[in-house]
Amino acid sequence: MYDDRILSAALREKIMTAEDAALLIKDNMTLGVSGFTRIGYPKAVPRVIVEQQSARGLTLISGASVGDELDGAFARAGLTARRYPFQTHKDVQNGINRGAILLGDIHLSRLAQMIRSGILGKIDVALLECCLIHEDGSFVPTLSVGVSDVLAECAEKVILELNLFHPAALSGIHDIADMDACVLSLTKPAGRAGKPAVPVHPDKIAGIVITDMPDQHSVYPAPDDTAKSVAAMILDLLNHEVKQGRLPEKFCVQSGTGLVANAVMDQLAESSLRGLSMFTEVIQDGALHLIEEGVITAASCTSLCLSVEAEARFYAKLPFFKERIVLRPQEISNCDALIRRFGPVAMNTAVEADIYGNVNSSHVSGSRIINGIGGSADFTRNAALSIFITPALAKNGDISCIVPMVTHVDNTEHDVKILVTEQGIADLRGLAPKERAALVIRNCCHPDYRPALQEYFDRACALTGGAHTPHDLKQALSWHQRFEETGSMK
Ligand code: COA
Repeated sequence: MYDDRILSAALREKIMTAEDAALLIKDNMTLGVSGFTRIGYPKAVPRVIVEQQSARGLTLISGASVGDELDGAFARAGLTARRYPFQTHKDVQNGINRGAILLGDIHLSRLAQMIRSGILGKIDVALLECCLIHEDGSFVPTLSVGVSDVLAECAEKVILELNLFHPAALSGIHDIADMDACVLSLTKPAGRAGKPAVPVHPDKIAGIVITDMPDQHSVYPAPDDTAKSVAAMILDLLNHEVKQGRLPEKFCVQSGTGLVANAVMDQLAESSLRGLSMFTEVIQDGALHLIEEGVITAASCTSLCLSVEAEARFYAKLPFFKERIVLRPQEISNCDALIRRFGPVAMNTAVEADIYGNVNSSHVSGSRIINGIGGSADFTRNAALSIFITPALAKNGDISCIVPMVTHVDNTEHDVKILVTEQGIADLRGLAPKERAALVIRNCCHPDYRPALQEYFDRACALTGGAHTPHDLKQALSWHQRFEETGSMK
């Protein structure tokens, strides 16, 4: 059985139940798993570990976020002690913010290097999802790559979850290559420099578990009017940049996740732009549609994070998409040198931004983490144009997302080029801090908070004698203190 999925007879002997595989994972181990944006993570073995509570005190390392069966269930059962490098699950967030789970919040581009160098300790077991295992042990991942290549290389033992939900015909979409090969030879976003499968020595494979469990698919609500108007502003800006010759006509795009990101994709579909490329972490429904329409003709990512309907379309037209999409390790999808080379327009989301252009993408009120920095800074520093999007208000207007000073900095004023809210755009390029502040207050801040921010800025200028980046530190903090104490910044 499964000889069309496990091409080595010797490896077929290693098929075992999820219960037996779970016994290989013991208390206090470091468990490396496949998965990125809740796609391509192992599901069968984690379910047994949770049911049997068979391993506690685990350090869990994945490419990025993984699904509820793993992150959520482990956190609820109190199995995770330490987590790298990013997560998006409420139960994990709660665990981190009450001190039960320690999170190492790491740039996604740098995780592979940290694993290889041993900084994160020994990887006891790598638990990796795949759809095909070759004669030599190398395996074809499913719809994400993340750090599966590095985990397979560095872990003491490898357990493969062979997921029959995904066809073996997926083979050929992945490009598993090391960074040197890519930096030296990739000249196009969807170029190839490696092999279609992840190498692993067959002796390292301790077990193969057969599953057919789908990922928990994303749901993408239709963009509301606000998201549409923000997307329209961004599209006008991009057209203007093309006209000015600062972006090529066939420019490259990186897009974070979320409503506005998908709204931008929708508007690109309606534009006259054609032949664009994508160099990004994640392809979502909007980008898949753009590929179908020929707006994007070549795309590189490390995860295909699709809704049920879009994933069905993807598999129905698999040969078409395999010619246009490359799935890579995140060390390559987020590689600074390649981002510089392909020069994407990077579009990411801020929790809050300050009047000088510093962006907080990860924390509430300075202390409580939401998700993590993810790949936002990988792209922001190196993109041709870095755009941050945030609503002007949060919590029903009790919070201004434009503040005097952000409570946590993920992306700095030196990297953030364009700030967009539903109120307008601030093009911060080439401006001195005081010019930036005037523009952000005028264009991006909600009118309810504009007078207070202007007053703050004027007082800070007067207090500091018009210094380079004027602040009134006591006042700056009082905005956030007021929210913590009264539930409103007003
Ligand atoms: N102050 C305090 N809380 C705020 C806030 C602010 N200025 N702005 C938002 N929040 C709260 C929201 O109310 C929400 O809280 P809730 O979950 O209790 O309702 C929470 O923060 C998340 O806000 P939401 O609007 O739901 O976020 P989102 O889904 O648009 O995601 C980020 C925004 C920034 C969290 C998300 O984009 C992210 O994780 N970014 C970092 C990683 C990244 O950029 N990845 C892509 C790179 S390639």
